[in-house]
Amino acid sequence: MLLMSGFLFSGFKRFGGESDSGTALEIVLSDYPELSMDGGYKVIKDVMIDGIEDNLIIVRQSEKNYVVLSSICRHKKCNVKFRNSKQLFVCPCHGSNYDLEGSVVKGPSSGPLPKYKVEVNETILKITR
Ligand code: FES
Repeated sequence: MLLMSGFLFSGFKRFGGESDSGTALEIVLSDYPELSMDGGYKVIKDVMIDGIEDNLIIVRQSEKNYVVLSSICRHKKCNVKFRNSKQLFVCPCHGSNYDLEGSVVKGPSSGPLPKYKVEVNETILKITR
């Protein structure tokens, strides 16, 4: 049941039809005003992609360029935020920083944030592993 919960989220649906695991997610951009400006970001929790549950952080770099990473800090699992002025993901709990590829820039975290693939059309993001 948890598998389906992410797909019931407003503006969020399973992509690719038949499989219960869902190999991709579609994000309807107009449902997320945070993503209407460059540097804006949105955390979406409890999604399932390719059978793996995760929280995502989606950052708009430009109209045609988005970065999507797992938002779960590898230290103690807080959700990271995005600091546009430094182009870094910052953990509010103990201060770990990650770059746009998800690599650790500053600890205490010692592991990277997994990065997702993103396809952009005019109104929809398709996110895959
Ligand atoms: S949980 Fe992120 S730095 Fe500790």
